[in-house]
Amino acid sequence: MKIITEKTAQAASARAFDIVNGLSKQEQLKVLGLATGSTPLGLYKLIRESDLDFSQCTSVNLDEYVGLKSTDPQSYHYFMQKHLFSAKPFKESFFPDGVNPDAAAVTREYDRVLAQHPIDLQVLGIGQNGHIGFNEPGTSFDSHTHHVALTESTIKANARFFDNPDQVPRYAYTMGIASIMAAKRIILLAFGKEKAAAVRQTVKGPVTPTVPASILQRHSDVTLVLDKAAASRL
Ligand code: PGA
Repeated sequence: MKIITEKTAQAASARAFDIVNGLSKQEQLKVLGLATGSTPLGLYKLIRESDLDFSQCTSVNLDEYVGLKSTDPQSYHYFMQKHLFSAKPFKESFFPDGVNPDAAAVTREYDRVLAQHPIDLQVLGIGQNGHIGFNEPGTSFDSHTHHVALTESTIKANARFFDNPDQVPRYAYTMGIASIMAAKRIILLAFGKEKAAAVRQTVKGPVTPTVPASILQRHSDVTLVLDKAAASRL
């Protein structure tokens, strides 16, 4: 694992941008894997303000809530539209189909999308419990796209985006750990002291499903991009 630490989240986002920019300029970014949450917002801002052109590039997002339409302001589809796609449209952008309650059909279809569009670079955040995507502790390392019940800690962490915690969806469709590990390159961004314990377990702990991100120790091209607070327990 390569680890980049900067003093601030803003400076770290600039380093993450340099990686995206470099790959894009070398035409090595045909498929970009994207994440939602507050962590990648600085990176997405830098991309919006850049001269990067994704019109020949495909995006695949890690996950989507079950039950929210793409036009719902809380959906991850809407989030990406607002923070990235409105300024930088991709040739095609894929998400698991959150409005289809047929989990088997949704996950099969998304695995087909991922097989057809191998990810050149996957952007990841990390949960305080070490989750990546919505792969909560205990998820099998062999998992592909699947339907998940969110843990209480994730529901609590995500409640800040909703008017009321009761509105946080309880289920999501997410790429699995094997789907993420299939990406050619991965950058994991983590900012703030709340992430320091998860970052430590990811880097220094045993590789265990109890800390889903710890599997990244076994990937050949992972870069952790951290601010000082998130790196404080390394
Ligand atoms: P955050 O979420 O970027 O909003 O902290 C990250 C995650 O839960 O994966």
